[in-house]
Amino acid sequence: MDRYSHSMPNTSRTKSAVVTGAFSYSGVYIARRLLEKGIEVRTITGHPQRPNPFGNEVQAFPYSFDDPTALERTLRGSQVLYNTYWVRFPFGSTTYDTAVDNSLILFECARRAGIERIVHVSIANPSLDSPFPYFRGKAEVEEAITRSGLSYAIVRPTVLFGGSDVLINNIAWLLRHFPVFAIPGTGEFPMQPLHVDDQARLCVEAGASDQNMTFDAAGPETYSFAEIVSMVREAVDSRSVLIKVPVHIALNLARLSSLIAGDVVLTKDEMRGLIAGMVVSEEPPRGKTSFREWLHSNADTLGRNYASELDRHYRSGRAFPFNETQ
Ligand SMILES: NC(=O)c1ccc[n+]([C@@H]2O[C@H](COP(=O)([O-])OP(=O)(O)OC[C@H]3O[C@@H](n4cnc5c(N)ncnc54)[C@H](OP(=O)(O)O)[C@@H]3O)[C@@H](O)[C@H]2O)c1
Repeated sequence: MDRYSHSMPNTSRTKSAVVTGAFSYSGVYIARRLLEKGIEVRTITGHPQRPNPFGNEVQAFPYSFDDPTALERTLRGSQVLYNTYWVRFPFGSTTYDTAVDNSLILFECARRAGIERIVHVSIANPSLDSPFPYFRGKAEVEEAITRSGLSYAIVRPTVLFGGSDVLINNIAWLLRHFPVFAIPGTGEFPMQPLHVDDQARLCVEAGASDQNMTFDAAGPETYSFAEIVSMVREAVDSRSVLIKVPVHIALNLARLSSLIAGDVVLTKDEMRGLIAGMVVSEEPPRGKTSFREWLHSNADTLGRNYASELDRHYRSGRAFPFNETQ
């Protein structure tokens, strides 16, 4: 691991952990690995009533950012907090600023509750100077953790695939349903996808360490966006024609697909971030799962159903889909 600083109390004998979002996407994999190690897991979620993939093994509590005493009570008794909380894009009254503020409330409650270590999931290439508000907000939250006085690991994934993933799944869904797929610009911007369970492994390993650390979590293979789309097209046996279009046209087509899907398929910032090569790492890859091999093993299920961000986070009552792919 890179960028160590001072040593903190050893938390490798963790008995109890809190995972935010253990009923959602990547948090499921973290919780599963912790349970396999015999660690008690609680979750904090915006949907405590959502079907619980762990039965009685994981108790759910609401985020209650507006009631820090309740949040502190939920965290008390655990040694490690695995934090996946963030918002993909601003929507309605939810903004990156509220996500930053809520993250800071969570960390302060963790400190007061006696949490010894935070494993925080960030993103590759965060920066306070980033032109992308997502990456700026992530950098602000990282800075708050390093100043919190708590022992920490900051894990910076590139882009995740596997399980109930959104991006790769929805590329496959579009390729299955539309006769044409528009690739923005040259399509030659790089992506280094990381399997969601590799991400969970790295988080759980980082949780057992006693060092402060910040590191990228990237997959073993790098492809251009155009290569990824071609590989997915071939895997799902799509006849969709791939065309390269100017970015502004690709954006308009993304808006049109959003209307058809009743979701936000890709935001302008997300497209600009992809084109700027934000989802790759310059560090040695820590993921082990080959995207190419995974794609071939999961081609039958990939993209059969659309993965809706708005259903998952803004339309209460909709169940979170689990494990369309492995
Ligand atoms: N997915 C990727 O490809 C990727 C790539 C790089 C970095 N990351 C980072 O990895 C972390 C986990 O990502 P994920 O995709 O696994 O996220 P997720 O499971 O969809 O959500 C993680 C947590 O954030 C909450 N959340 C998400 N959107 C929200 C919203 N709009 N309003 C309120 N709460 C919201 C979820 O609430 P509920 O519990 O109510 O669902 C859940 O507890 C995030 O910090 C993300 O920035 C993800």
